[in-house]
Amino acid sequence: MLTIRSLVVLGLLWATADASPQNRKKGGNNRAKTAQQQAAAIPQGVSQATDGSMILDTTVNINNLPIRFRISGPAAGFTAESGVPGGAAAAGTPGTMGLNVLLHGDGGQSFFDFPNQAVQNNLMGVAVLAPNKNLFWGGGSGLQRTDGVAHAQAVSDLVTKVLPGVAAFNASDVSFTGVSGGSLLLSGFFVPVAAADAAAIAKTRIHFQSTQQELTSLQPAIPKALAAYEKLAAGAGLDAAAIGALQTVDNSPDGGHCAFDGKDFVSGVQLMADSFSAIMQQGGNGQLAGKNVLNPVVGNEQLSFKAGNRRSMATALRV
Ligand SMILES: *[C@@H]1O[C@H](CO)[C@@H](O)[C@H](O)[C@H]1NC(C)=O
Repeated sequence: MLTIRSLVVLGLLWATADASPQNRKKGGNNRAKTAQQQAAAIPQGVSQATDGSMILDTTVNINNLPIRFRISGPAAGFTAESGVPGGAAAAGTPGTMGLNVLLHGDGGQSFFDFPNQAVQNNLMGVAVLAPNKNLFWGGGSGLQRTDGVAHAQAVSDLVTKVLPGVAAFNASDVSFTGVSGGSLLLSGFFVPVAAADAAAIAKTRIHFQSTQQELTSLQPAIPKALAAYEKLAAGAGLDAAAIGALQTVDNSPDGGHCAFDGKDFVSGVQLMADSFSAIMQQGGNGQLAGKNVLNPVVGNEQLSFKAGNRRSMATALRV
């Protein structure tokens, strides 16, 4: 069983694990390459991170799903078997650094940007690519994620069974960041799979971040997500003050979906990744672009939004 230290939920989403299969339109443009095919053309292997760390980009088979992932950290933290030059750790041995595992939004953009690649808060960065032709975590679309359970299990198995052979890390210090469709997988499927009971949730620090001009389709889902997590923590015996310290929410940035810097998706997600320590570390100042975003969820469930827009959550891959 995986211990989840913290969760960052970006572009608030909520889905239930019983999402029914949707009727997908047949046909369409067969000549256009799928997002998955475009991603496959981008080389894997070893490269250098923005902070000089090493990045390994590789694919493994987990439960018959091709799971491509990137992991970054100091060379010495990788195992000899990982193939990263300088990798000296023995496979399966614990390390002192934790992990921050990022699940991208629909279309895969944040996997390739890898905004959490620089070591921060003593966490190695990990990004995982959805095993789906559209690069949608949980498959399906919108709030209906038909393969959510299988994808959540694959992410859990990646962290508990595959990554210990690649790098030495502290398995008690694993955090997750979900962006848009990735946050949907985290909140709707992964948490129930990986940390089934309320007692586990009552120890997990969670920050929910949205924006003023969040997608219209997502705005009503937010109070539901907040209420569901509050209820789990309350069920484990936490009082309102304790819940408010553990679970925080904000939607102050004046931007569209995931434009947390008020400008754009990519730079907004990067700003959130850069602000991880400030927001998630105990005693952090909670600052996101000069504003404290650590509002307790209790009493702040009904966020007020400006008019949202009706675009889909999917972003075309720009690499
Ligand atoms: C692993 O992480 C846990 C949780 O943060 C911490 O209490 C523990 O000291 C860490 N272990 C090592 C060896 O760093």
